[in-house]
Amino acid sequence: MESQKQNSKKRKQVFPYGNYKSYYGYRIGQGVDEDPRLKVLRKEWFEGKDCLDIGCNNGIITIQIAQKFCCQRILGVDIDSDRVEDAYWNLRKTVRLKSTGNKPVKASKLQDKDHADDSENSVTTLLNVKTEEISKEHSSSEQIDLLKIVSFKRENFVQTQHPPGKQYDTILCLSVSKWIHLNWGDDGLITLFAEVWKLLRPGGIFVLEPQPWKSYESNRNVSETTAANYRNIMIRPEQFQEILLDKIGFRTVEDITSGLTDSKTGFNRPILVFCK
Ligand SMILES: C[S@@+](CC[C@H](N)C(=O)[O-])C[C@H]1O[C@@H](n2cnc3c(N)ncnc32)[C@H](O)[C@@H]1O
Repeated sequence: MESQKQNSKKRKQVFPYGNYKSYYGYRIGQGVDEDPRLKVLRKEWFEGKDCLDIGCNNGIITIQIAQKFCCQRILGVDIDSDRVEDAYWNLRKTVRLKSTGNKPVKASKLQDKDHADDSENSVTTLLNVKTEEISKEHSSSEQIDLLKIVSFKRENFVQTQHPPGKQYDTILCLSVSKWIHLNWGDDGLITLFAEVWKLLRPGGIFVLEPQPWKSYESNRNVSETTAANYRNIMIRPEQFQEILLDKIGFRTVEDITSGLTDSKTGFNRPILVFCK
């Protein structure tokens, strides 16, 4: 009876901002050791750079980027405080895996009641694989101190006054634009682009993975707000590139989508890289 109640509670859980728990459980898929997007990102955009990841969810990509590309710093922000908590949990877990010499860590030691879900094993595997690869690249004396490099913060990116003066070298916005567009309409989308521009140093890089318009339809009814905004949205994802170049002011764009090889998970979305 109790478990029936819990099941129906689980089924009713709605994620109006794309703030899915266990996102990578289905995004990355079985038997894939690395998110395919990491294979097309270039080291020079991150190495020794100050980076921002908008909509970081549980922080797995943020942490992997920090490790793989040796960022000077990377901040992940997410509107959902539970996802930020998950991200810190994953960061601490990664650091623990590193400090135990990358031996598989007992699940019982890692799991807690909030995180003992289906995605746990695949997430631990991902963190394990990446940690092993990184440790091959860095000798123990130059092991990077992830806790100093990676941080997370709860923030609604489009409704936050960013302090003047703070700027980044590289900003990521992966599979987030649809959620901002549906929740805050065309104005919210333009605010996203304008804020990114403002927060980037000259020569800075903006990595954008927009969801296609047809995918908006399946999420339009997650809330009354999204349903209303969906009806009023005039801008389509196909226009983002032109807006970013001609209206926002980015100098160049490169489409790096063709490097994405893994189509198994059905997540082959364009990835565009803009330079300020
Ligand atoms: C579908 S997930 C994408 C996660 C990650 N960027 C990736 O591609 O693997 C979208 C994330 O964006 C976050 N998000 C949505 N609107 C946001 C906003 N206005 N400010 C900050 N985060 C937001 C959600 O909470 C969610 O975790």
